[in-house]
Amino acid sequence: MAKRTKIKELLINPKIGVETNVKGWVRTKRGNKNVAFIAINDGSTIHNLQAVADLSKVNEDILKLVTTGACISVTGQLVASQGSGQSVELLVSDLEVLGEANPEEYPLQPKKHSLEFLREIAHLRPRTNTFGAVLRVRHAMIFAVHKFFNDKGFFNLHTPIITGSDAEGAGEMFRVTTLDPVNPPKNQDGKADFSQDFFGHETNLTVSGQLEGELGAMALSDIYTFGPTFRAENSNTSRHLAEFWMIEPEMAFYDLDDNMDLAEEFLTYLAQYALDNCIEDLNFLNERALEEEKNMKQEERSELSLIERLKFIVDNDFQRVSYTEAIEILRNSNQNKKKKFKYIIESWGADLQSEHERFLVESHFKKPVILYNYPKNIKAFYMRQNEDGKTVRAMDILFPGIGEIIGGSQREERYDVLKARIHEMDIPEESMWWYLETRKFGTAPHSGFGLGFERLMIFVTGMKNIRDVIPFPRTPGNAEF
Ligand code: 4AD
Ligand code: MG
Repeated sequence: MAKRTKIKELLINPKIGVETNVKGWVRTKRGNKNVAFIAINDGSTIHNLQAVADLSKVNEDILKLVTTGACISVTGQLVASQGSGQSVELLVSDLEVLGEANPEEYPLQPKKHSLEFLREIAHLRPRTNTFGAVLRVRHAMIFAVHKFFNDKGFFNLHTPIITGSDAEGAGEMFRVTTLDPVNPPKNQDGKADFSQDFFGHETNLTVSGQLEGELGAMALSDIYTFGPTFRAENSNTSRHLAEFWMIEPEMAFYDLDDNMDLAEEFLTYLAQYALDNCIEDLNFLNERALEEEKNMKQEERSELSLIERLKFIVDNDFQRVSYTEAIEILRNSNQNKKKKFKYIIESWGADLQSEHERFLVESHFKKPVILYNYPKNIKAFYMRQNEDGKTVRAMDILFPGIGEIIGGSQREERYDVLKARIHEMDIPEESMWWYLETRKFGTAPHSGFGLGFERLMIFVTGMKNIRDVIPFPRTPGNAEF
């Protein structure tokens, strides 16, 4: 019996006339009383293989079980295809059903299902063309991230998932505890006594690997993390997940400009990698997005198609603008004057909402924007303070259709300044003593940033909702599968 060949391999290098075995899931079966055409997909590629079963040669009872969703194994000769739509097909001499899928119950039928419906069957949606394509591109992007940094001499550092600190100082954390939720041991003021907890103090799931990443950079020079991060923010939007993956490089001796240069080079590299390595899946996703936009109002449609957007990123520099300049642009915009923003920009110091970010990128500059030098009061404690006493060396990268895709900064490397800021912001110093010590022993200027991997995936696949670019999304009220 022939050994199994993956469909991707067989299409790249077809061995015409050779007996071949293919295993996969049935997408469709059609035909007449003499012959059945079975489209099989094994996930290795967007393309199906057509198996042709001559009804005088295959067992009719077995063929009856070949329904959409069933898993089958087919063996036979590979031949050049007679029909259009495929280059080769397989003439079935042996057909085996490995797993049936009762058509009365199997929820995925060969027709268009809504993305909302597919989220309810996240255990089966990888078997659709759309999610197959998204998941293959996702893998390619993971691989590209590691390749980019490895080629540059960065080291991948695993930072902890359970921590005792709040890296972003936003307090949006999931608690980790083994204390009895009904009857926890109590201390004198009647509160749960976390000194008796598993780790001897309060712990939570990390919101960012940055603080530990900085420790790595202060020894290895250039590191990056790529891990899961968790945020208990109750934002039910198409851009937020409670569990998402973040890539956080951290570089000794980089200032804010070096940091922006690296981030721009990184995003450009990833877009180019997708174009070079995922074009079949991207072509499919491109068509699917165009199809989807046909049903949308003119003003909601994107000016560029998915593939054009990826090329645009590769070919154009990002626009670098200081926060102060951006506020002036926003204040003088018609949107602001005519009160079309939900949050009107009154004065310097305002936090930017995603409507403002998208205005800058999509209407004003019409290209990716790097905003830098933000007011210190709207940014995290660890950012390097500027000489003006008001701003910090922060930078956010804003993308069309997404808003913020990267957030980063030069770090405050001066011990006294950092310590004062920690106190000013009421951050418990005892949870940060180790972080402060890096500033005491051999401190160095350094910088880093965080790329939200799923925000990148929205950009690369053209999917509109972040729930559709991760296999099993975690959002408020949703942790099934
Ligand atoms: O801007 P953020 O909060 O920055 C940090 O966490 C820094 N420690 C990064 C660093 O300097 N090392 O988050 C970084 C990125 C955002 O720009 C966004 O792309 C993504 O993480 N992100 C989310 N993605 C999905 N769901 C959420 N709830 C996200 N929150 C942030
Ligand atoms: Mg941010």
